[in-house]
Amino acid sequence: MYILGMESSCDETSAAVVEMGEGVRAIRSNIVASQIEVHRLYGGVVPEIASRAHIEAISKITYEALDEAGITLADVGAIAVTANPGLIGALLVGVNFAKSLAYAKKIPLVPVNHIHGHVAAAYLSNPTLEPPFLAIVVSGGHTSLYRVDDYTHFEEIGATRDDAAGEAFDKIGRVIGLPYPGGAALDKLAYEGDPKAINLPSPALAGDTLDFSFSGIKTATLNYLNGMAQKGQTVSYADVAACYTDRIVRAITQKTAQALETTGLSTLVLAGGVAANSHLRASLERMCKTRGITLAMPERGLCGDNAAMIGAAGYFEYLRGNLANTSLNASAAD
Ligand code: KG4
Ligand code: ZN
Repeated sequence: MYILGMESSCDETSAAVVEMGEGVRAIRSNIVASQIEVHRLYGGVVPEIASRAHIEAISKITYEALDEAGITLADVGAIAVTANPGLIGALLVGVNFAKSLAYAKKIPLVPVNHIHGHVAAAYLSNPTLEPPFLAIVVSGGHTSLYRVDDYTHFEEIGATRDDAAGEAFDKIGRVIGLPYPGGAALDKLAYEGDPKAINLPSPALAGDTLDFSFSGIKTATLNYLNGMAQKGQTVSYADVAACYTDRIVRAITQKTAQALETTGLSTLVLAGGVAANSHLRASLERMCKTRGITLAMPERGLCGDNAAMIGAAGYFEYLRGNLANTSLNASAAD
């Protein structure tokens, strides 16, 4: 069946058509209208501007997605829309648009959790992947470990207690003058530095907990940069990028390995915008290889926010009968 996926939780407006069924997981179109250029001016996402930009783009990109897939609304079996978590004004644009289309055309409406969507991107890139597995979701808003027992059942077993890894990358990226969002640029710059040059704390909390904390490494890096400036010493931004990335990647790898041990699961899914990070991908690949764990990752182009992943997650919700009607509301919370 064809699912029309819709995503507007943050700063990308996206519509996609995915074809899902027994042995079929295919992306027929995946249009992403990014607002990054608009928000770059402010060094971060401005919620009110995001909502307005979603309103301007959503209708056009929905019809573009249908055209590119070569179908019409009459062929759509379900409309899947991100209903939570995210910026409330931004989410409401997608939810209201999807509700109107579903009502007018009598198409089943499926609310999707954005995080479940990120994980579902792995189903599109790995056709034989199925639960149960452990998922590590690393994005601008989340750094969380989930035990995924079923396509629609997630149990959070670890999470950041403060900032998310993506947020931490973007913050230091901004301070050292990289264009917003800094994650992708820091990824490249880290290859040019020495990961042992600066002493920085680990974001992995000590002990049995599977939780993270990124505020300490962020503050330590800011203190290092301020201290060097006060002493009039030059800073190697490449070393900063290398050390910062190294500690974050190590912490995520360490807690993920710990979670694999405690759960006994033998498949790992890495997902979320930060899953595009080449150092993180390589580190988890090494860890999984040593332990005989099967690793499934979305291809890099499907790691960031997009509607194909929402369509894929929506398909499994649809199969479980998790439908909504016109009373569907968006929610900023998980
Ligand atoms: O999942 P996502 O697109 O949006 C949220 O749901 O938050 O994640 C966006 C985050 C941003 O913080 C961005 O800097 C980060 O993903 N990101 C990266 C890379 N590409 C995107 N972080 C590190 N390395 C990358 N290559
Ligand atoms: Zn996201």
